[in-house]
Formats: sequence, C-alpha cells, structure tokens
Amino acid sequence: MPIGVGVVGCGNISDVYLRTLSKSDAIHLVSVCDVIHERAETVGTSYGVTHFGGLEDFLEDPRVEIVVNLTVPSAHFGVTRRAISLGKHVYSEKPLALSFAEGQSLVSEAYAAGLRLGCAPDTVLGAGIQTCREIIESGGMGQIVGAAAHMMCPGHESWHPDPGFYYKRGGGPMFDMGPYYLTALHTLLGPAVSVMAMTSLLRTTRTISSEPRHGQSISVDVPTHIAGLLKFENGAIGQITTSFDVCAHSFPPIEVYGTEGSLRVPDPNGFGGTPQFCPKGGDWSNVEANRPYAAESRGLGVIDMAYAIAEGRPHRAKGDIALHVLEMMEGFHLSAQTHSETDLTTSPERTEPMSLTSW
Ligand SMILES: NC(=O)c1ccc[n+]([C@@H]2O[C@H](COP(=O)([O-])OP(=O)(O)OC[C@H]3O[C@@H](n4cnc5c(N)ncnc54)[C@H](O)[C@@H]3O)[C@@H](O)[C@H]2O)c1
Repeated sequence: MPIGVGVVGCGNISDVYLRTLSKSDAIHLVSVCDVIHERAETVGTSYGVTHFGGLEDFLEDPRVEIVVNLTVPSAHFGVTRRAISLGKHVYSEKPLALSFAEGQSLVSEAYAAGLRLGCAPDTVLGAGIQTCREIIESGGMGQIVGAAAHMMCPGHESWHPDPGFYYKRGGGPMFDMGPYYLTALHTLLGPAVSVMAMTSLLRTTRTISSEPRHGQSISVDVPTHIAGLLKFENGAIGQITTSFDVCAHSFPPIEVYGTEGSLRVPDPNGFGGTPQFCPKGGDWSNVEANRPYAAESRGLGVIDMAYAIAEGRPHRAKGDIALHVLEMMEGFHLSAQTHSETDLTTSPERTEPMSLTSW
C-alpha cells in the first residue's frame, strides 16, 4: 500500500523531486503547498494533486503521512517541527536546520513521537558514492589515512532565479554545498570527531546576474570561502574547501587516500559518475559504477523512507546523520571565530549500503 506524500515548497528544485516521487510504487503523491499559492497551484495542476497556500491546511490533510520539506533553509526548522507536532514523518532538504540546537530538537522530537526524520542529500545513495563505499570496504585501499574535498564555484547568483537565501544564515557555500561533501565523507569514512577552519567574507554585497532579478544587489551575511579540516573516528584526516568566490579550479570533487591506493570520488552533488582508482605504484583507471541510481534521482531518500516504513527497517538518509553534518558545519564556523578545534558530540553509525537491485 503506497504511503501518502505531500510536498511543501514549490520552487526551483521541486520539479526534480516530484518527477522522481510520482514514479515510485511506494508513494502516493497527495498534495503540494507553497506560501506563494500560485506556485502551488501551477505545480499541483501539472501533477494532478491537491494544492494548498496555507501550511496548516496542508498539514491537517490526513492523507499526508510523509511531508517533504523543500522550503528555503530559514523555513526548514519551523515547517519540519510543525509537521512532526502533527504526527507526520518528515524528509527535509538540507540543511536540516540553521543551528545544531534546532537540529537536535527536531531529531529528539521526531524520536519521541515515533516518527521518521530524513534529510537530503540522498545523492550518497546513488551509483557513484555507493561504488566508492564498496571499494573502500573491500580493503583494497589499505588503511584510510585521509580525504580531500573541494566545492568551489563563483556563487549561485548567476543561475538561480531568487538567490538571496544563499547569502543569508543557513546559506553560504558550507551550509548550502557542504552537506553533499560531508555526507559523502561520512558515507565513505564514518563519523568525524572534530573539525577546524578558517573562513572569509571578502565581498559584503553581490550582484544578481540571473533573471528575473538581474542587476539587483544581495547583502552577504555569511562567510563565502571556508577552508576546513576534519578528524575522523577511524584516524583519517580530511580537508574540505567550500567557496562561492572561486572562478575555476582543477581539483576533483573528493579524493580518498589509503596506504595501498587512492580513490577519486565522483561529484557528490549527483548520483552517478565514474570513480577512478590508483593502486600503490600503479596508474589511475576507471571503475565501473555498476549499481542502480546513476541518473538524477533526487527524492530517492524519500522513496527509501517509504519502503523502510513498510518494511519496519531504518531508512538511510537519516536525520541523525544530517544532524552530525550540521554539527560539523556549525563547528567549522565556530572554529574560525574561536581560532580553535571544535569537538563534535554526535557520532551516527553509517546506514546500510544500497541494494544492488533497484526498486
Ligand atoms: N535549486 C537547487 O538546485 C537545489 C538543489 C538541491 C537542493 N536545494 C535545496 O532545496 C531547498 C529549496 O531550494 P529552491 O532552490 O527550490 O528554493 P526556491 O526559493 O526556488 O523555492 C522555495 C519555495 O519554498 C516556498 N516557501 C518558503 N517558505 C515557505 C513556508 N514556510 N511554507 C510554504 N512554502 C514556503 C517559497 O515560496 C518557494 O516557492 C533549499 O533548502 C535548497 O538548499 C536546491
């Protein structure tokens, strides 16, 4: 019996989700909601589902069992918390919340209510990262000593239609893009124990070059270049740079280093890609990512949650992993302010690898 799903937030990313969700046998897409009611109406009409302009009416619909929260970061906490209080399972876009304290309360409130809390990114469930996890776990890389992650771009004001939120609290390159890289590092290496960083905010205003707000100015409230270090429970040391200030670079998205080999990990902002492996003393070669979900499948984490509820097993894109990532992201910024290493208090286990067959 498919589970009822309602989507709140009918903006830029919603169509990608709705396409994936509407094709799943585990899900019955029931409704959509947006504070800008015309957006909900347009999206609802095109998917043939009920549309709401008010969050309360949307949440009170008993057909909605899982709420998919695709609102802007500043609204994630309030929307998720209200949904949990009304007995709904929630899958949220990243970040889980704007602060670790808020994230902690969401995880504990969902747990106390016996509800599922899930969070993006689910790209780590795709063929690329799952293949890399298998390579590392096979032991062929020897002892894992380190990893390097690079997400550097000129910023999102050149393409997003309404990019202001990327430069407010909950945005910036670490809170916006960090979740893909940090969740991938957790999937590949396990939990981290501490982080430290330096950050900069060199331009306090940015000019939008996308339509329809072309030429308008955005004030920047958050650091836009962050160079961080992570210490993992397994002893490995990671480094991560996230930036909205870099025109171009030539680093791979992620590399993992072992005593017997090095691994190039595909872009964690996608599901597929081709991993590359270099054994000690050898040459780089491609590794076939012969697993399901190589194509864009945003929403896969919701589908996994739907099956997990039906099967009575843990879901994979879990709220407590997103909370760990949130603690790291906040920790990088705190470390930069205090000029010290920030210890982490959360240490979530990795969830089960994806099956070799698709749903
Ligand atoms: N755009 C992308 O490529 C992309 C990719 C991956 C993840 N995300 C994440 O998805 C989320 C949404 O991003 P987006 O690009 O679609 O943003 P967006 O601004 O295009 O859309 C967000 C929508 O949420 C609505 N909204 C805001 N607060 C609301 C509330 N309280 N109740 C109901 N509706 C509300 C807005 O009216 C808007 O239509 C963000 O967390 C973002 O980080 C975006």
